[in-house]
Amino acid sequence: ELEDKISVADSLEILEKTRIELFGKKGAMTAEFKKLKDVPGPEKKAFAEGLNRNKANLQKLYDEKYSELKAKKIEELLKAETIDVSLYSNLEAKGALHPVMATMDKIIDYFVALNFSVEDGPKVEDDFHNFEALNLPKNHPAREMQDTFFCRDGGVLRTHTSPVQIRKMLETKPPIRMIAPGAVFRKDYDITHTPMFHQVEGLVVQKKGEVNFANLKSILSDFLHYMFGEVEVRFRPSFFPFTEPSAEVDISCIFCEAKGCRICSHTGWLEVLGCGIVDPNVFKAVEYENVSGYAFGLGVERFAMLLHKIPDLRMLFEGDRRLLEQFR
Ligand code: DAH
Repeated sequence: ELEDKISVADSLEILEKTRIELFGKKGAMTAEFKKLKDVPGPEKKAFAEGLNRNKANLQKLYDEKYSELKAKKIEELLKAETIDVSLYSNLEAKGALHPVMATMDKIIDYFVALNFSVEDGPKVEDDFHNFEALNLPKNHPAREMQDTFFCRDGGVLRTHTSPVQIRKMLETKPPIRMIAPGAVFRKDYDITHTPMFHQVEGLVVQKKGEVNFANLKSILSDFLHYMFGEVEVRFRPSFFPFTEPSAEVDISCIFCEAKGCRICSHTGWLEVLGCGIVDPNVFKAVEYENVSGYAFGLGVERFAMLLHKIPDLRMLFEGDRRLLEQFR
């Protein structure tokens, strides 16, 4: 009868009840053992042996049943928890790269293909790297070209990615061929400015005489054609403290095909980057001798705006899904 009880159990829960019925304090087997004390002396031994044999037999049946039911249970759990990869997912909520990051990647790809390394630097900079070493001494009027966020401890939120140039030059010897993509910060907020935006800085340094303005012009023209396709590229003399000579680079307006419109202020040209030959004072600050180099810097949001014809730069940071979904 007890053997039957074990063999009919068809779940771990029932088997556990059976176990208590058989082996528990008030269980059937326990009751049998209690009879032992009433068995007359000569028969005690045989009776006890019989009990133990029966108990061992039941225990063996129980153990087998337990393993069998446990295995069944695991099997069921595995089945229930299987992920059905063919299940329909909510495609509406699928994400995508933000247009600024996608533009950044496109820019980085170009320079990586030309063997530039990709460098990084801190967003909280010090005066030396952000200004001083870039030929922007204290009280220099050109510091006001950039509206700076100052930290209480004297640090600054970097106003451009140019300080990464300085860090790289202090850290290694020439030749250098690098870009530095990253976030920068300025006290600005209007249709073409946000307090945080992204730049890509570029720097090439080689032995004196090995690089010149023609190299700079050629690589940047090619880069702008890669980004914008068939456009005119124009180098216009300008000023940056860290380069001499310096230039700003324009492309023919892609909105009006250079006929003149509101976006290009009726000039037919759109300014897209700054560049120049590294100023000797910058090399002095990092103790480089007998080298020449060129550098450039560009705003990634500006490129994204132009590429995708986004009218207000602030839209890129509002997180409005109606804008973002167009870039999925
Ligand atoms: N740092 C400049 C800015 O934030 C951009 C720039 C211009 C970087 C000319 C350069 C450069 O390296 O040569 O406006």
